[in-house]
Amino acid sequence: MEHTVHVPLGDRAYDVTIGPGLLGDAGARIAPMIKRKRVAVLTDENVAALHLETLRAGLARAGIEMTALALPAGEATKSWPHFSRAVEWLLDQKVERNDVVVALGGGVIGDLAGFAASVLRRGVRFVQIPTSLLAQVDSSVGGKTGINAPQGKNLIGAFHQPSLVLADTEVLGTLTTRDFLAGYGEVVKYGLLGDAVFFDWLEANGPKLSAGDMATRIEAVARSVQMKADIVARDETEQGDRALLNLGHTFCHALEAATHYSDRLLHGEGVAIGCALAFELSSRLGLCSQEDPSRVRAHLKDMGMKCDLSDIPGELPDAETLLDLMGQDKKVLDGQLRFILARGIGQAFVTADVPKDVVLSVLTDALS
Ligand code: GLY
Repeated sequence: MEHTVHVPLGDRAYDVTIGPGLLGDAGARIAPMIKRKRVAVLTDENVAALHLETLRAGLARAGIEMTALALPAGEATKSWPHFSRAVEWLLDQKVERNDVVVALGGGVIGDLAGFAASVLRRGVRFVQIPTSLLAQVDSSVGGKTGINAPQGKNLIGAFHQPSLVLADTEVLGTLTTRDFLAGYGEVVKYGLLGDAVFFDWLEANGPKLSAGDMATRIEAVARSVQMKADIVARDETEQGDRALLNLGHTFCHALEAATHYSDRLLHGEGVAIGCALAFELSSRLGLCSQEDPSRVRAHLKDMGMKCDLSDIPGELPDAETLLDLMGQDKKVLDGQLRFILARGIGQAFVTADVPKDVVLSVLTDALS
């Protein structure tokens, strides 16, 4: 049942292993990487309660001792105070240059632990053990690490590739439906950006996947990770193609800012709505057929996901304000907003050539 995707990055190459029961087998997988049979684990309090003991037992089976720090769950943890606490804790644990730090958790922990590993003693290796669907298909792979600044999300960080990723698909069973579906927003994104056949497959298999079918879950994670690995191998530091992974994100970041990064909108929900809006914009610009945005929205609806602005609870600001918030996106280059648009399902591309009035009309209609 298990799949391995190789991320071919020369001396920074690594494997992403996807399948059930990997937490319990983590020791055997990590043992070949270390001389000292000891690892330091960064996690959050929620994940620790659910999975830390399984990991401890899995490591102990290979004679590896574990020491762990559980930080508070939530986006606020991706900040200097928690980051410095994590780095100082790792130093207190006497983590050395040849040791390995383990990130057990979702995107917040993966990003923070990866960044901590990148600066600790000028860089130590780390293993990602992602526990959310979003982290398994996106944030644990590709080496983007960091924390948020008061000025914006992910503005402080480093590219630091993990040495191994263990995506245990069994842990997905402990996610709430809402969190699972938010992660699914990123899965849909892969089909929409580069693989129409995968999108067809998701239309057919999405409901089974959401109901918990393990083989379908593994296949969806593996296909997503393979796409990400291919893109990262072509463009590790986002000079070009890697920006395609931001399909839906320009709209999403404006919506997240407008809802103050609160529980009103999870990141993956914003990505799904953002993808629907990116296809609507592409269709209005005559780039793709009118059926494409309808098909995107229909699939999101079938999955019980948010797909319209009206699905976000509470008031949203007007279209002009949302457009301003899009202008603060970090993908702005030389003052120009870059969009990921599509010539059809599976055919995304990056462009700065988007008339503002068309974006404004898409937002105005979406708000009405
Ligand atoms: N999450 C987008 C990227 O890794 O580039």
